[in-house]
Parts: sequence; structure tokens; C-alpha cells
Amino acid sequence: MNRIIRREQLNENVVRIEVEAPRIAAKAQAGQFVILRVNAEGERIPLTIAGTGEGTIRLIFQTVGSATMTLAELQEGDEICDLVGPLGTPTPTKGYRRAIVVGGGVGCAIALPVARALSERGTEVISVVGFRSRALVILEEEFKEVSKQRYLTTDDGTAGEQGSVCVPLQRLLESEKDIDAVFAIGPLPMMKFVAAATRPYGVKTIASMNPIMIDGTGMCGCCRVTVGGEMKFACVDGPDFDAHLIDFDEAISRNKTYLCFENEARERHCRLYRKQVEDKQ
Ligand SMILES: Cc1cc2nc3c(=O)[nH]c(=O)nc-3n(C[C@H](O)[C@H](O)[C@H](O)COP(=O)(O)OP(=O)(O)OC[C@H]3O[C@@H](n4cnc5c(N)ncnc54)[C@H](O)[C@@H]3O)c2cc1C
Ligand code: FES
Repeated sequence: MNRIIRREQLNENVVRIEVEAPRIAAKAQAGQFVILRVNAEGERIPLTIAGTGEGTIRLIFQTVGSATMTLAELQEGDEICDLVGPLGTPTPTKGYRRAIVVGGGVGCAIALPVARALSERGTEVISVVGFRSRALVILEEEFKEVSKQRYLTTDDGTAGEQGSVCVPLQRLLESEKDIDAVFAIGPLPMMKFVAAATRPYGVKTIASMNPIMIDGTGMCGCCRVTVGGEMKFACVDGPDFDAHLIDFDEAISRNKTYLCFENEARERHCRLYRKQVEDKQ
């Protein structure tokens, strides 16, 4: 059991929790993740380690379905049933002079530890973060702390520049000639467009893949992605891969495999939750 010692609502759908996990905290590196079950009947879900404290890890998650909704209902002092990690290969953050870190939506939670690790290693970080709207903007201060330049976009123009992250990214690729790498973390279509934007400039681009995972140890084959024509397991070979070699269309299609079961579980959870609230009243 792992106790939640802090809980913070970052926007209407995104929650940050700090969880006691001393052995994971001692080893975690940027880009690694945990797989947790909220309760004994729960689904196993992967979440990136967004930071560490004294014997604790921070997780930032968006409530999208049944498991994340159940996790969001836990309060400070509550316990998570089990937590395995750190899993995955750490993001390669050594040896870059200047790098652009692109984060989209809750992907910013995964982008932040990468930006922090790069900055701590002396890389000049330019961050480009995008959200649908002002109300969904998260981690503004944290990105400021680790970035030399920072660009914010929203789809509806309610904060920062209107448009997608590719708008400032394209400008930077034109104007800044000495970018060693671009790190892209967000929805699959966003990462696909980032890869398309950087390809003509020949800038090394790394994308953090988020396929469905079960065991997280390379045994079930659920998380496979095609990279340069080869099959890779995101949980052990990744989650980071060369974005110019990823078959994004296949990854997008594979992520929809269980959509009808996910919708059913979400509906069931919402009905149960509404009933619990009504019973308490
Ligand atoms: C390596 C990795 C790191 C991740 N880090 C974060 C993070 O830091 N913050 C965050 O908000 N989300 C993160 N995710 C996505 C997160 O795991 C899913 O949002 C979560 O599993 C959804 O579960 P659910 O039951 O709430 O939703 P569901 O309704 O079951 O699913 C909603 C969507 O979430 C994805 N998903 C569902 N189950 C899994 C699974 N077992 N493994 C992977 N994806 C799944 C699918 O795209 C699905 O369509 C990460 C995913 C991976 C693979
Ligand atoms: S999650 Fe099973 S092989 Fe990666």
C-alpha cells in the first residue's frame, strides 16, 4: 500500500498527487513511469513519475476513464493498492546544448521532468506547451523555472498564442539554427505533426509513446509499436523513440482497440459514483 500525502487539483480534469514510495523515489529518472492499481479489483494503469520528493513520487494524471476517475476520488491519507516501478528506459537527456521540449495537454506532466533533467545537465531548454484553452493550462511556473524561453499556445487563443504547438515550433526551427534535439510529449496526432515539422530540418526528434500497457515488463506484447520497421515494446525499449521512425498511424489505430470496453467502464463508474453520492445525501 502506498499512502497519498498530498493531493492538488491542477485543473478540472488533472490532479497531482504525492505518494509515499521511497524505493521508487530513490531510483526514478526522467521519462520513467509506474504501473499502479488503485484497488484490488482495479485496472493496471501506467503513469509517468513527474517528480520525486523525500521518499515520495509525484504523479500528474488526467481523469479520462474508470481507473483515473477512481484514483481522482482518493484524498490525502488514502492508500493506493499497489505501485510498481520505476519502469521503462529513462529519457536520454545527456549531451545536448540546446533543446526544445514540446508538451501537449497532460503530456506536459511528462514533458516537465524531461525539461528539468535537461536543464539540470546544463542544456538550454526552450519549452513549447499547448492546451485547448486557458482553463486547462497547468504547470506554468514549473516550466518557467527550467526554461530559457517559453511559448504557450491554446487552440482557442484564450491564453498565449492561438493555434497548435507547431506554430511556435515552426518559427523556432526557422530562426534558431543550433537546436540539438526536440522532445515531443502529448497526444499521438500532436507528436506525429511535430515529427513532420522537424523532419525537413533534420533535427533529432524524440517522442514519448503511450500505448496501452498491461505488465510493463516486456512480456505481454500489448504495448508494441513499430519503429523503423521493427517491432519495439514501449514499456522496456521506450517509451521514448526516434519520432522520425515511428509508425504513428498504426499507433493511433492500436490505441482505439478497446474503446467500446473503456466507454462501458466509464459509464459504469459514473453511474456507481452518482449512486454513492445520492446515498450519502
Ligand atoms: C508510459 C505511459 C505513461 C503515461 N503517463 C501518464 C501520465 O503521467 N499522466 C496521464 O494522465 N496519463 C498518462 N498515461 C496514460 C494513462 O495511462 C491512461 O490515461 C490511463 O491508463 C487511462 O485509464 P482509465 O481506466 O482511466 O481510462 P480508460 O477509459 O480505460 O482509457 C482511456 C484511454 O487511456 C488509454 N489507456 C487505457 N488503459 C491504458 C493502459 N493500461 N495503458 C496505457 N494507456 C491506457 C487509452 O488511450 C484509452 O483510450 C501514460 C501512458 C503510458 C503508456
Ligand atoms: S506492457 Fe506488456 S510488453 Fe509492454
